[in-house]
Amino acid sequence: MENKKIKWGILGTGRIAKVMATALQVVENSELYAVGSRTKIKADEFASEFNILTSYGSYEELVRDAEVDIIYIATPHNLHLENALLAMNNGKHVLCEKPVGVNRNEVETLIKKAKEKKLFLMEALWSRFLPNIIKTKELIESGEIGDIKLLTAVFCIKSNNGQDHRHFNLDLCGGTILDIGIYNIFLSMLLLGKPQDFSAIAGLSEQGGDNTCSYTFKYEKDTLAVMYSSFLVESPIVAEIHGTKGKIVLEHVWFCPGKVKVLYNDGREQIFDFDVKSNGYEYEAEEAANCILSGKTQSDLWSWNNSLELVAMMDSIRKECGVVYPKHDF
Ligand SMILES: NC(=O)c1ccc[n+]([C@@H]2O[C@H](COP(=O)([O-])OP(=O)(O)OC[C@H]3O[C@@H](n4cnc5c(N)ncnc54)[C@H](OP(=O)(O)O)[C@@H]3O)[C@@H](O)[C@H]2O)c1
Repeated sequence: MENKKIKWGILGTGRIAKVMATALQVVENSELYAVGSRTKIKADEFASEFNILTSYGSYEELVRDAEVDIIYIATPHNLHLENALLAMNNGKHVLCEKPVGVNRNEVETLIKKAKEKKLFLMEALWSRFLPNIIKTKELIESGEIGDIKLLTAVFCIKSNNGQDHRHFNLDLCGGTILDIGIYNIFLSMLLLGKPQDFSAIAGLSEQGGDNTCSYTFKYEKDTLAVMYSSFLVESPIVAEIHGTKGKIVLEHVWFCPGKVKVLYNDGREQIFDFDVKSNGYEYEAEEAANCILSGKTQSDLWSWNNSLELVAMMDSIRKECGVVYPKHDF
């Protein structure tokens, strides 16, 4: 196994698939080997843009390629379950875009399949593997800013897409909670754990999806995490964690590669900066490849249980806000 390279197949050729194809070029223990699209022309174009040897005009052909070790799933949320099952049923490990399933039942089904087939499965929550987020977690755990009293996290982008686009289309499980709010919720759960209580409210589209949503988590005693997400407006995408000794600021765009700024109550300041080899998506790919090479079926950094707790929280927020996906019941 020593010098083995993990061979990747990318399933879907949209925006994030290109981002991952770029990142995979710098991942040492990996080779971007194949791509599959619903149409052969798109697969061929993608393959030629990223120097990929093999391209398929269907997802089925991609997952049946015996050379492929892992499938990276880059389709809209509503297809993750179907596509990940297709991959695992054909003996492939899976790195699946977030959310790995649109509700708890879906995530449980995927985990069951990964266990049954003894395959690696991970939700592609790329921020979890970024050096700035890892550093933030370390600083908080070591008590650098004292007891945490308040976390704030924002993710708002003005989406100019139409109502049919996956941002809004309820058949594709649109809405901010699963698409961008997930990052805020992830940060709070990563740093503070599962909340004791929460409240949530959303502004809904005519279809019934959340165009804007705010959610507040209550932790022990007097600690809160206050968060919101929107597809209707632009706003600074910043996260701050306030403790009794100071605060940590993750500047715009907080869930991407960036600096960690620590501002202490006594006026001192510390800034941590990090070199990133590509666009930041290489860290999650490296983690997936390393896990597979060492025979692990899940990552310690972002485990199956982490994905389950995250989706269960999003289910609760959606219920509170009245956001229901007609084709993907709870
Ligand atoms: N981690 C991140 O930073 C990040 C950023 C953006 C998105 N994402 C996640 O990645 C997933 C895809 O997002 P995206 O922005 O890349 O979407 P996108 O640009 O619309 O691409 C999705 C791709 O999925 C395939 N597809 C299969 N069935 C489809 C259908 N019915 N409608 C539309 N596309 C379909 C298409 O590829 P073919 O035509 O080639 O089959 C399409 O190009 C989402 O789950 C999202 O949450 C993650």
